[in-house]
Order: sequence, then C-alpha cells, then structure tokens
Amino acid sequence: MTEQERQLGRRNFIKAVATLPAAGALLWKAASLRPVTAGIIGPGGQGRVLMENCNPNFIKLVAVCDIFPPNLLRGLDIAKRNHDPNAEGHSDYRKLLERKDIEAVLIAAPLWMHSQMAVDALQAGKHVFCEKTMAYTVDDCKKMIQAARSARKNLQIGHQRAYNPLYHQAHELIKNGTIGEIYHVRALWHRNGDWRRKIEDPKFDPRPWGYDSIEQLVNWRLYNKYSHGLMSELCSHQIHAINWFAGNVPQSVVGTGGVYRYKDGREVFDHLYAIFQYPNNLTVTYSSIQSNAYDHYYEEFMGTKGTIILGGETEALLFMEGDRGKASELEVKADKGGPVMEASESRGRDAAGNSVSGTGSGLSAVSAYRLELEGFARTIRNGEPNLCDGEEGLKAATAILKADEAVKQTKILEISQNLYNV
Ligand SMILES: NC(=O)c1ccc[n+]([C@@H]2O[C@H](COP(=O)([O-])OP(=O)(O)OC[C@H]3O[C@@H](n4cnc5c(N)ncnc54)[C@H](O)[C@@H]3O)[C@@H](O)[C@H]2O)c1
Repeated sequence: MTEQERQLGRRNFIKAVATLPAAGALLWKAASLRPVTAGIIGPGGQGRVLMENCNPNFIKLVAVCDIFPPNLLRGLDIAKRNHDPNAEGHSDYRKLLERKDIEAVLIAAPLWMHSQMAVDALQAGKHVFCEKTMAYTVDDCKKMIQAARSARKNLQIGHQRAYNPLYHQAHELIKNGTIGEIYHVRALWHRNGDWRRKIEDPKFDPRPWGYDSIEQLVNWRLYNKYSHGLMSELCSHQIHAINWFAGNVPQSVVGTGGVYRYKDGREVFDHLYAIFQYPNNLTVTYSSIQSNAYDHYYEEFMGTKGTIILGGETEALLFMEGDRGKASELEVKADKGGPVMEASESRGRDAAGNSVSGTGSGLSAVSAYRLELEGFARTIRNGEPNLCDGEEGLKAATAILKADEAVKQTKILEISQNLYNV
C-alpha cells in the first residue's frame, strides 16, 4: 500500500467515525472506584506488560507468584514500585490464593496452566482475569466458565481488542452498513524470526512444576504439551475480533502448515494457513508465518461497499470501493509536486519496525491492556459489562483449537455448535 493510499484510508476512517452518534462517547472515561486488591501469577513477558499497564487506582497488586526466581524478582520490583511497597512474593500460586484480602488474580502463566489456576482461584472466591488463549482444551474452558458461574465471580479473558476503542469504532461502522455486506475477511500475523527466548538461568530445575526442562519452561510456546503454537498465541486474538464483528462463530475450518524453517526441535508449526467458514457465507482466510514480516498483522473486512483494515492494533483504515483510483490520482499529483494530503497523526510501527504515521487514535499498542484491566475492575466494582467474558473466550478458543487440529491433519473439520455451548 502506498503512503497516499494509507493516508486516504486513515482520513476516511476518521471522517466516518465522526458521523457515529457514539463517537467520542466511548465507555472508558476516567472514573474513581475503590481499587480491587489483586495478585498476579506469572509475571513473565506478558505478565509484566500487564503490571506496567495496571492502573493502581483500579487494581492494586499486593502479591506476585512465579516459579522462576528471576521473573518473580522482576514482578515484585514492579509491584513494589507501582502498587504496594510491601507486596509479597510466592512460588506456589496456591499460597497466594490463601490470602483473604486478595479479591482477584491476574493469570499470565503459560496456556496449559490457565484452567487449573483459574478454577482454583475462582473456587477460592477470587475474580479472575486470565490471559488468552482461554485454555488448552475446550473442556478446560468450560470448567472455567462453570467455576465462575458457581462462585458468582467475574471471569475475563485477555483478548484486549475487546477494549480497544478503534475496534469499537470499526464495529459500529460495520454494524451501520458503511462497508455493506461482508463475505470475506482476510487476517494474518506475519513475523520473521524463530520465536525463541534466551535461557537466562540454565541451572534452574522446573521439573517439580511439570516442565520437562528449563528449555521447555522458557520456550513453552514451541512445545505441544504447553501450547498450541501460532494458533493459540496469535490467531486467537484475531478470531476473537472476527467472531465479535460477525456476531457468529465458525462452523468448519480447513488448514495446512508445518515446521518449514526452524527445524530446531520445536513441535509447533512455524507456518500455518487456515480457512474458517462462518454462517451466512462469510469466509475468513488466515495465515501466520515466521519467514517474512512485511505484512505485519491485521484484520481486513471486505464488504460490498468498502473495506476496513485494522492493523497492528493501532491503525484503522477505511476504503470505499473505487478509492484505489482516487489514491492513484493523489500519487500522480504528489509526483508532479502538486498538493498531497496532510499526515498529521502519528501511528505505531510498520512491518520492518520503522516508525510510520497512522490513525490519529492516540493509541499505543499497549493502551488496550490498561483499558481491559480497568474494565475488569469496573465490572467487579460497578457491575459494568465484561466485554470479554468466559463465553467470548470459549468461542475464540473453540475455533482456534479446531483449526489447530485441521492444520495438523491438513483436513476440513466441522465445528459442532455443542462445543461452543456450556
Ligand atoms: N494479550 C496479549 O497480547 C498477550 C501477549 C503475549 C502473551 N500473552 C499470553 O500471556 C501468557 C504468558 O505468556 P508470556 O509470553 O508472558 O510467557 P512467559 O514465559 O514470558 O511468562 C510466563 C511466566 O509464567 C511463569 N510460570 C510458568 N508456570 C508457572 C506456574 N506453575 N506457577 C507460576 N508461574 C509460572 C514462568 O516462569 C514465566 O515467568 C500466555 O497465555 C500468552 O498467550 C498474551
């Protein structure tokens, strides 16, 4: 896409949003509430992103649990600095759950532990914010929902697009028919790298915690015992958003893929391709590759009247059918030294990691983490709607877990409606 096209798309989106009755009146105004006292389990990469984006006026983190001492110390440092100078550290999450003053837990441990930790926490009377993907199996997801229902506690899943204002604006535009009927969504997440983490403390023995080796603890996302690879780590976010926008869930999926590039002992595929079939003839094509980052990541909704592209969680573009011609005219004018559209807004990073101009949303890629955690506290304190509850998490998890099977078997698989129901 040329810079002129991008600018046109960005301006179109901003103009269209300005016509929405709800524009500027989104849910997330500053408000005060009594902070929810909480602990976090798993302050690794994402856990610490959550901690740094956790507003202590909404959630006060008083305890941290991690089995890996360097991460426990890093997490404790953030908790003491931003939340509570007396924050406590634990290596066994059940100890953290024993604390009576803790009302909620944030779970950012590897996928295979989500369900057990969440169910234990809910049964201990805590509200739970659990990172995506919701759980390792559909049954595990359902156990979490049942535990939340029995305990009458809030269960939120960390698909942060649910709290991203750009996604809400795009959703409104799609609902009001701006881009017409949608038969095709294209989504992808492309990277160029091996996805490996460096092992910082090779002597640490994680076997008491169920990890076969330090390699498997640190690089858990590369092994089937703990992870569903690119499907659970990346695709689930995008399928969550597509389910939400479609107001539906896929009925079948076909896929293929393999370990094509990194034959380094990993078990999860480094390239995968899937096609999800939704009701009403909506087809979603998906790819996630680890050999080329040019396209970065986005979801592209193609309607009979126009296209909305949501890129990198920070950029929203709208093109009406025929706009490609208009953008080319602008390019010709620019080449001849004529007027071009102004580019005043700032945006995130492009595929190559270069800083580029964008939506004017004022959003950084991490803003939605702060908003989703504030939302979690609002639901607990004020009863405000949970925008990504267990039921929503289950829908995304069911679709990607079936897609993972389809990709591994290179088969078309039906997704029974029963899987989505609890
Ligand atoms: N929402 C997002 O955008 C996003 C982004 C990245 C990761 N995630 C999710 O966050 C979760 C964690 O991913 P990550 O990248 O931070 O992984 P990570 O390996 O960096 O962190 C996981 C942490 O959990 C700890 N841990 C493992 N088993 C434990 C146990 N039994 N008890 C306590 N601590 C334990 C590890 O020592 C580590 O510190 C995953 O579910 C992942 O999908 C979400």
